[in-house]
Amino acid sequence: VAFHSHLLKLCLPTPPEAYSQRWANLARRYPSINYCSDIITVAGIIELAFGLLPGSTITHQSYNLTMTLPAAPEAARVAFNAQGLPFSPRYEDVYRSQAGALAEARHVFLAGNDLPARWRGREQFVILETGFGLGCNFLATWLAWQRDKKRTKRLHYIALEKYQATPDELEQAHRAWLEQCHNDDATEFGALADLLRQQLPSTLLPWSGLHRLDFADERLTLTIWFGDVEMGLRDLQCSADSIYLDGFSPIKNPQMWTTTVCKSIARLAAPEATLATWCVASPVRAALAAASFDLRRTKGYGDKRHMLRGVLRSLRPPYFVVPPASDRSAIIIGAGMAGCSAAERLARRGWQVSILERASHAASGASGNLAGIFRPHPSMDDNLLARLSRSSFYALLRHLVRLSEAGHHVQHTKCGVLYLAQNPRQAMRWQSMDNSQNSPLFSWCPPQETPTLSIRYGAIYFPDAGWLNPASLCRANLALASAHARRHGQDFACAYGKDVDHITRQDNLWLASDSSGQTLDSAQHLIIAGGAEASRFTQLGYMPLRVARGQVTHLPPCESMAHVEHVICGGGYLTPLISSDNAYPVRLLGASHVVDDWDTSLRASEQRENLSLLTKLLPGVDLPLTSELSGRVSLRPMSPDKMPIVGAVADFTNSSTGPYSQVALQQGLWCLLGYGSRGIVWSHQMAETLACLMEGSPPPLGRRLLRSISPARFNRSGA
Ligand SMILES: Cc1cc2nc3c(=O)[nH]c(=O)nc-3n(C[C@H](O)[C@H](O)[C@H](O)COP(=O)(O)OP(=O)(O)OC[C@H]3O[C@@H](n4cnc5c(N)ncnc54)[C@H](O)[C@@H]3O)c2cc1C
Ligand SMILES: C[S@@+](CC[C@H](N)C(=O)[O-])C[C@H]1O[C@@H](n2cnc3c(N)ncnc32)[C@H](O)[C@@H]1O
Repeated sequence: VAFHSHLLKLCLPTPPEAYSQRWANLARRYPSINYCSDIITVAGIIELAFGLLPGSTITHQSYNLTMTLPAAPEAARVAFNAQGLPFSPRYEDVYRSQAGALAEARHVFLAGNDLPARWRGREQFVILETGFGLGCNFLATWLAWQRDKKRTKRLHYIALEKYQATPDELEQAHRAWLEQCHNDDATEFGALADLLRQQLPSTLLPWSGLHRLDFADERLTLTIWFGDVEMGLRDLQCSADSIYLDGFSPIKNPQMWTTTVCKSIARLAAPEATLATWCVASPVRAALAAASFDLRRTKGYGDKRHMLRGVLRSLRPPYFVVPPASDRSAIIIGAGMAGCSAAERLARRGWQVSILERASHAASGASGNLAGIFRPHPSMDDNLLARLSRSSFYALLRHLVRLSEAGHHVQHTKCGVLYLAQNPRQAMRWQSMDNSQNSPLFSWCPPQETPTLSIRYGAIYFPDAGWLNPASLCRANLALASAHARRHGQDFACAYGKDVDHITRQDNLWLASDSSGQTLDSAQHLIIAGGAEASRFTQLGYMPLRVARGQVTHLPPCESMAHVEHVICGGGYLTPLISSDNAYPVRLLGASHVVDDWDTSLRASEQRENLSLLTKLLPGVDLPLTSELSGRVSLRPMSPDKMPIVGAVADFTNSSTGPYSQVALQQGLWCLLGYGSRGIVWSHQMAETLACLMEGSPPPLGRRLLRSISPARFNRSGA
């Protein structure tokens, strides 16, 4: 357990209020921590402010709190018995009944939850499983869903797993189960198992947390929380309709069946949710009954006489309520990266969407630069920004593939990004971050001098990162949104030249009006994605939104930079040569950063500032004359904690403080803001998260990350 000395102080048996000055300072630095009376948030502050390594524990005696930060998943180390069936030497138990893996999954988990009958005719259905294992239950469920003509339109399968199997172990297990299948199942089961293995991570993940995979044209989503079950259940947010309980035997693996696990499952279950398990051990039954499940024993499978079925009898309101189909229309203000991505995500789900954009074309604001850099933002302590950017980076890469497969071109190159350390201290931190995290996303480059490049203190290299033309991403998302809308029989329009002056709510509709008071459009939902200019809307008055002017310099081709094929960063960035539609190829060099400056004219002083940066990135390079250079200026939409602002807009009319979970919301009003200097990496994942929240489906982020981006994290005074 690694504690920082500051943290030990905070762990003394004194309530946090005693540290009021320190708290006030922290709250100023991290506006997401306004509710100091909320003990989990206190733990969050400690984590945010000082950083903890995964696996560390925070204890606070006066609150009787122990919180352990999630440890990374471990290797499963699957063995195979004489019949070739998988078992776990760690728990000395089999993964599936010897009598037939698929047949057991069908009898216990599917029939035990009355599936497929219960998902029929539903807009969406959510299954939660403890113990993803080698995916047999998932494959059995996928097979049943695929064959069912009346299947739910969207199936979400959420599973938890602490021990990750290798591709070879998975393949061997799937082959063994395939041999047990009847002929009529074997071909389909085998094909689905192949698709599953293609998407599961092929190397051991160095971090815990959510991992999302999409199948069947995104109608089936598999979300795996890799890490310990208790941690995962605490972090998840969903309303599960059916629950599969499938740890190893409770005698051999009691951690999977604790009262805490059972209570957390009840918290994540929808009213009347069902559960099924082969386990009938009396402590497990007692724990489930105490968590409000009505239980009954029924006939078991194979050599098990009984199995257990349950129904949740709890009056607790569900986490998410799925809005009726009639309530699925939305106006989006702004056709930048935020707005266009949101349009695509909602149209994908069959929503009626329209965009109102003030300019004459998409990407006229900050998203109009010729190129921007996309990369994850790792940190030594794997902080919230590191986790959010990692998950968003993967989501962006998957989305780029989807766009390309659908025939929508996004101009980008994964040319690699080399980030130069600015001083020996930073270099030391990065090197130890590389050693401790063993991440596939970056690697340490030691100092080196070549004739063309000086890596003075060392650097980190992001092999899958690169540059991207944001306008082409906006256009591709708009085109895909139109295609989705056509498929769903909806209209989709991006209306240009529509300047929204104010928004009002009338008769359950949001109206967007211009300065003459004329209504431009109305819908049940409204998303503000207006970038830097969103602060004009009074409904966002409580948010501490700011802008930062930024100027990029366009550099013409030049012999002394001809070797630069990666993006080079370090206090700014230089891209490889980028061709543009109507001009000569240029390199982008940038960018200035002037907070609260709304002027968007090109400044010679900032061109010079950018050129001096160039001499640091590439000493010895030939500098062009400032007067010959062109560039572009736009405004970054900033949040004070550098995290995006995504979700329902809060309503602080009656109170500016109180527990986070009880903050009132402005019905039907949402926002996608605060993308700062990282709009590309946020674009897809934030839009997907918002669409899930609007639709009442499981979001791709855990509770900690959702909180960190929630618009409700700021109080009314904007502190
Ligand atoms: C110099 C510079 C360099 C950058 N470099 C990078 C980088 O390397 N990598 C990276 O990821 N990000 C970078 N960024 C940040 C990135 O460009 C932004 O985060 C992103 O473009 C924000 O997208 P957005 O959709 O929120 O805002 P915008 O792109 O500004 O879109 C907002 C849209 O809303 C419209 N609008 C606003 N108000 C209204 C209204 N009332 N009615 C109708 N329409 C309205 C605007 O006309 C605009 O089209 C950079 C930004 C700058 C300025
Ligand atoms: C019986 S197997 C699950 C089989 C799986 N449902 C299938 O269909 O292939 C139990 C699983 O629980 C996982 N497990 C055990 N202890 C765990 C823990 N503390 N947290 C999360 N997963 C755990 C094991 O790694 C194993 O994969």
